[in-house]
Amino acid sequence: MIETARATASDDRLRFSVGVAERLPYRGEAFDLVVSTTSFDHWADQQAGLAECARVLAPGGHLVLADQFSALLWPTLLAGRRGKARTRARATRLLTAAGFRFPEWHARYAITIRAVTATK
Ligand SMILES: C[S@@+](CC[C@H](N)C(=O)[O-])C[C@H]1O[C@@H](n2cnc3c(N)ncnc32)[C@H](O)[C@@H]1O
Repeated sequence: MIETARATASDDRLRFSVGVAERLPYRGEAFDLVVSTTSFDHWADQQAGLAECARVLAPGGHLVLADQFSALLWPTLLAGRRGKARTRARATRLLTAAGFRFPEWHARYAITIRAVTATK
C-alpha cells in the first residue's frame, strides 16, 4: 500500500512511512491532525496507540478515528475480539485515558461503522 501511495502521490509535500500505531516514527507534537480508518480494531495495544496519537499531535490538534464501534458487536468481545474497544463506551474511556478531550461520535455508512473525533 505504501509503495502504491508513493508511486501515485502527486503532491511533493506528501510523505509515507511504515510503522505501527503503538510506536509512531514521528517526533512529538508534529501534526495538527491524525486520521485512522478501520485500523484501530487491529492495533495490538489500543491504549498505547492512542497515547502515541496524542504524543504526535500538537496541543489543540485533532484525532479522527473511524472503525467498527457498536453495541451490536458485544458478542464478538466475548470471543475473538476480547479486550478490544469496539463500543463507544470502551473507546471513549481509552481516548480519555490517553488525554483526549471532547470526544464526539458520528454515524457513518454502515450501522456498525462510526467515527469519533477528539481534541488533544
Ligand atoms: C482493514 S485494513 C484498513 C486499511 C486502510 N486504513 C483503509 O482504510 O483502507 C487494517 C489495517 O490496519 C493495519 N494494522 C494492523 N495492526 C496495526 C498496528 N498495530 N498499527 C497500525 N496499523 C495496523 C493493517 O496493516 C491494515 O493495513
